[in-house]
Amino acid sequence: MKILVTGGTGYIGSHTVVKLLEQNYEVVIVDDLSNSEESVLDAIKEITGKQPLFYQFDLCDSVKVAELFTEHKDIQAIIHFAASKAVGESVQNPLKYYRNNLDSLINLLYQMEQHSISNMVFSSSCTVYGQPDKLPVTEQTPFKPAESPYGNTKQVGEEILRDTTNAIDQIQAIALRYFNPVGAHESALIGELPKGVPNNLVPFITQTAAGEREQLSIFGSDYDTHDGTAMRDYIHVVDLADAHVIALERLLDTKQKSSFEFFNLGTGNGCTVLETVKKFEEVSGVQLNYKLTDRRPGDVEKIYADTSFANKELGWSAKLGLGDMMASAWKWQKRISKID
Ligand code: UD1
Repeated sequence: MKILVTGGTGYIGSHTVVKLLEQNYEVVIVDDLSNSEESVLDAIKEITGKQPLFYQFDLCDSVKVAELFTEHKDIQAIIHFAASKAVGESVQNPLKYYRNNLDSLINLLYQMEQHSISNMVFSSSCTVYGQPDKLPVTEQTPFKPAESPYGNTKQVGEEILRDTTNAIDQIQAIALRYFNPVGAHESALIGELPKGVPNNLVPFITQTAAGEREQLSIFGSDYDTHDGTAMRDYIHVVDLADAHVIALERLLDTKQKSSFEFFNLGTGNGCTVLETVKKFEEVSGVQLNYKLTDRRPGDVEKIYADTSFANKELGWSAKLGLGDMMASAWKWQKRISKID
């Protein structure tokens, strides 16, 4: 069964491609390599012994997207990861975000209609909730106005899916609202590989520990949490990859209860920045150089998931804890930084 994975050389995409190949799906990847490397394909081959088909182009190019679907008329489903995801950059350059994240989605849905393809799994985010009034956050929690253009593309992306699945009987979709994906594959052959200075916490921690950054700034120490630092629900990327395969199979087996479904993917455990740093120090044995600084504009104070709906409906739950997340992220960093 042939599955199109957009953004398949990216961080979550590559881990999901590994799971799909291990379960004998045929995988076609489209990625423009704007935030990933072609060498990820070699790593995927080393892990699975299989080489997915790869096309390098921008999914905003509707002609190229149409050609792909003409060439691969037997695509059964799309897992759509490809998107830009830097919150701060989206504030500086909103048009890039609206174009990249929405044109690509529309081009794919249009081709699904043309070629009678039924199934899409969509990368959404807990950012759709903003700062919820009540925690943990359930799927029924109403959206707040988005904090950033990036966040808005995820809200609007879900609306596009809702409207399209309502209007076109044959199309069904599942949006997966990720909390904070971290960690790396146990082989340390794939992991998070941000270009330039990382925005996200865990790559910044591991690069600091590897001596590639001088100091980690912890953004905000006056939040209303037990240690004053912001709280998130970190989830291992390998658990997240499993959830994509389960969501895909729910669609392929027509087990979904409505044509558009959405699920929270987290562990349900809120963890502060300081706790994350301490856990990293504990599992790596490395003392981290960090300082407490001002809050980062646009950050929410605390968010963590109520995962009971995903646990029950998808039959999925996160298995790996914060220690596994930090240990695998460090193993990956040591490999790419060539540290013994
Ligand atoms: C945000 C979005 C998430 C999105 C992701 C993409 C929310 C709640 N989450 O994640 O949906 O997919 O961006 O990039 O909007 N931190 C530091 N120092 C650093 C880096 C981060 O203290 O150098 C802190 C942040 O202030 C935050 C926590 O670490 O409290 C996690 O930050 P980060 O990894 O960037 O993820 P989010 O901002 O939560």
